Amino acid sequence: MENIKCIYYVAVLFVHHFMSSLAMPAKNLTTDQSALLQFKTHITSDPYRLLADNWSISNPVCRWVGISCDARHGRVKTLNLSSMELGGTIPPHLGNLSFLMNLDLGDNNFHGHLPNELGQLRRLRGFSIGNNKISGVVPTWIDSLSKIHFLYLYNNSFTGTISHSLFNLTTLEVLSLRGNNIEGSISSEIGKLTNLKIFDMARNHLSGTMPWSSMGNISSLQSLSLTNNSLFGSLPNDICNRLPNLEFLSLSINGLSGQLPASLGDCSKLHTLSLSYNKFTGHIPNAIGNLIKLVHLLLSDNNLAQPSSGLFGSLPADICNHLPALQYLYLSRNVISGTIPKTINNCTALEIFDLDENRLTGEIPDEIGNLQSLQYLLLGSNGLTGIIPASIFNISTIAEIELEQNNLSGCLPSSFGQWLPNLVRLTTGENKLTGTIPNSISNASKLTFLDLSANSFSGRFPNTFGNLRLLKYLGLGENNLTTESPNAEWSFLSSLTNCRELENLYLDSNPLYGVLPLSIGNISANLQYFRASNCKIKGSLPEEIGNLHSLLVLDISRNDLNGSIPTTVGRLPNLQEYGSMGIASTRGDVYSFGVLLMETFTRKKPTDEMLAREMSLKNLVESSLPHAVTEVVDANLLRDQNTFDARVNCMLSIMDLALNCSMESPKQRINMKDALAKLKKIKLQFHKDVGAPN
Ligand SMILES: *[C@@H]1O[C@H](CO)[C@@H](O)[C@H](O)[C@H]1NC(C)=O
Ligand SMILES: *[C@@H]1O[C@H](CO)[C@@H](O)[C@H](O)[C@H]1NC(C)=O
Ligand SMILES: *[C@@H]1O[C@H](CO)[C@@H](O)[C@H](O)[C@H]1NC(C)=O
Ligand SMILES: *[C@@H]1O[C@H](CO)[C@@H](O)[C@H](O)[C@H]1NC(C)=O
Ligand SMILES: *[C@@H]1O[C@H](CO)[C@@H](O)[C@H](O)[C@H]1NC(C)=O
Ligand SMILES: *[C@@H]1O[C@H](CO)[C@@H](O)[C@H](O)[C@H]1NC(C)=O
Ligand SMILES: *[C@@H]1O[C@H](CO)[C@@H](O)[C@H](O)[C@H]1NC(C)=O
Ligand SMILES: *[C@@H]1O[C@H](CO)[C@@H](O)[C@H](O)[C@H]1NC(C)=O
Ligand SMILES: *[C@@H]1O[C@H](CO)[C@@H](O)[C@H](O)[C@H]1NC(C)=O
Ligand SMILES: *[C@@H]1O[C@H](CO)[C@@H](O)[C@H](O)[C@H]1NC(C)=O
Ligand SMILES: *[C@@H]1O[C@H](CO)[C@@H](O)[C@H](O)[C@H]1NC(C)=O
Ligand SMILES: *[C@@H]1O[C@H](CO)[C@@H](O)[C@H](O)[C@H]1NC(C)=O
Repeated sequence: MENIKCIYYVAVLFVHHFMSSLAMPAKNLTTDQSALLQFKTHITSDPYRLLADNWSISNPVCRWVGISCDARHGRVKTLNLSSMELGGTIPPHLGNLSFLMNLDLGDNNFHGHLPNELGQLRRLRGFSIGNNKISGVVPTWIDSLSKIHFLYLYNNSFTGTISHSLFNLTTLEVLSLRGNNIEGSISSEIGKLTNLKIFDMARNHLSGTMPWSSMGNISSLQSLSLTNNSLFGSLPNDICNRLPNLEFLSLSINGLSGQLPASLGDCSKLHTLSLSYNKFTGHIPNAIGNLIKLVHLLLSDNNLAQPSSGLFGSLPADICNHLPALQYLYLSRNVISGTIPKTINNCTALEIFDLDENRLTGEIPDEIGNLQSLQYLLLGSNGLTGIIPASIFNISTIAEIELEQNNLSGCLPSSFGQWLPNLVRLTTGENKLTGTIPNSISNASKLTFLDLSANSFSGRFPNTFGNLRLLKYLGLGENNLTTESPNAEWSFLSSLTNCRELENLYLDSNPLYGVLPLSIGNISANLQYFRASNCKIKGSLPEEIGNLHSLLVLDISRNDLNGSIPTTVGRLPNLQEYGSMGIASTRGDVYSFGVLLMETFTRKKPTDEMLAREMSLKNLVESSLPHAVTEVVDANLLRDQNTFDARVNCMLSIMDLALNCSMESPKQRINMKDALAKLKKIKLQFHKDVGAPN
């Protein structure tokens, strides 16, 4: 009897529940429609009217653009409005789309916070809101999305720390918060995400050390990117034993230190290894040769700890014999010594070979010429000797050859420009090259930057530069070049007038002799820097110089010129102040001054190669302010722990000033007088801070 009674009560309860659930507004397709229409009213910008007419009650919801419904129950399953340039906010009503499995609002202009109601989307497997302007902390309701596999939150304005609730999402395969403002350290709870394949926290403000011991439990991990944060500490030796599935590992632009782990060779699936802009030291492990799938190897700029620090030793002689897939090899700004291995031609896929600013010696192997995909050959600032192998000038794919600041000698082969249809940049400045500049240079028609300065080139100044229509920078200073006749007008200048893009023309310290022709006024209207001091020029400065409206610096000092400066010079809009025959605009000089400040206090050169070469010294400085200024300035300047804070503040002010000096647009630049005043102030403040006499 008791039993029956019990069942009875249960049944009554059931009926009651059933009744009340029927009385409640059921969520159905109408709910979906009204949620979407509510969403539409929150979309304030729809430039292509993609939703304006399409999302209307006269059409069935399941045929609306961006919507797909489940075939069985007919409810909205996918909402995908990616890349429609929509703007507006995300309303709570979206939380009513209870059958939603995929929500993709990426590549739009949505702003505001994500509403808590999105936590009701229990069936959600994929959520993408990358490339929007969403702000607020990473929501804590996210742990309600218990079926989530893909979470793309990159390139927004999320703040705060990595919410702990994320670590309960054990189904998660992709977590990308790249390009936000996330701070704090990475919790060791990360190890709970045992299905994670992609973890991308690049370009945030993470600090502290990496919880490698728990991270090592995520053996599923394929891609780990923590580029551009403020992480420190070293890599564990067994990193690759524990993460054998890694294909992509990028930890560049951090403060990581120590030696490269010996286990690296066990990451046999690795195709990208990027550890540039850190403080790693020691030899490059031979085991790198086991990474047969390696495509990108980026280890440059590991001298952040102090100058002359970084990776050292020589390149393993057989480095290329096992890396058939290698395309990018970046090792610039380390202390690599020894010679360039002759086996280099076994890296047949090589496109970028960057060993700028190291301590390489010996000759450049002829074998480099066999690299038929090479685009960048960057070997500046080393101690290389011997001739430049002619084979280099036969690589038709090559776009940049940088060999400046070495001890290279010999002549350029007479045909050297003939087979370089893609050459954009050639720098051989500060070497010991001799002979003439071959006319064949004019066959390299894509050349925009040519620096042959500070060598011992002799003979006539070629008359064929005019064929280089794209030329922006021509540096031929400090050589032994002459004109045809000591008293005639410079005929090469009329050829140069064909280079309509020319911005920098440096001819200084050559025994050119001759007279400036009137055609000087026909040089590119873009010309900003014209230096021809110490060239034994005779005659006077033609009035036509006044046509060069973009001129910032005109330096024709230390010549045998006579007469006065033509009045036309005074009308040049940017050239403000000028001396007798060394004429310079203060605004022009302030730019160089800014660069000088950066070079001096960072001990770096403005032409750093960095990750696909997109980052200049200026960008590096810009991106380091304010948090990471200590990463970029010369560490020697920060040594004194007692005055560390004052030093950091001082460096911050100086870098800020440097950036103000070197704004792209001359109008935005601070003027030289104010720059100097500011610098004096900074010095005063520093002395005040450290209690030193001024
Ligand atoms: C709405 O857009 C969808 C997808 O582009 C299209 O198939 C449908 O015909 C459109 N409906 C109307 C009424 O424009
Ligand atoms: C959304 O649509 C875009 C473009 O059609 C597509 O590339 C993307 O993969 C879709 N998103 C999802 C989650 O399916
Ligand atoms: C949908 O969600 C909104 C806000 O979260 C709520 O006010 C409303 O009652 C819901 N509508 C339906 C039909 O469920
Ligand atoms: C994120 O933004 C950067 C620039 O701000 C852009 O280069 C990058 O492609 C964006 N990332 C994605 C995945 O779209
Ligand atoms: C994570 O899940 C556990 C067990 O379900 C729960 O006790 C804990 O409160 C959750 N943590 C967070 C931060 O949600
Ligand atoms: C990682 O796994 C080891 C055993 O494999 C376990 O002892 C340890 O607790 C785990 N650590 C974390 C943080 O999950
Ligand atoms: C290239 O590599 C192969 C083995 O992979 C080796 O036999 C050959 O000697 C190498 N070539 C050079 C020039 O070192
Ligand atoms: C070039 O060689 C000279 C003399 O051998 C040496 O003093 C100088 O340091 C070398 N320069 C470079 C950049 O290696
Ligand atoms: C460069 O290529 C040309 C034309 O194919 C050829 O005649 C010449 O011998 C090559 N030079 C070198 C150094 O390989
Ligand atoms: C190089 O340039 C010269 C003169 O401009 C031209 O006659 C010649 O055909 C060019 N050679 C090649 C290989 O393009
Ligand atoms: C320049 O040429 C002159 C005459 O040919 C020669 O005496 C001088 O040594 C050369 N200077 C340099 C730096 O090569
Ligand atoms: C580093 O990140 C900051 C934002 O956090 C960004 O402004 C900067 O451009 C990034 N630097 C590089 C080199 O990507």
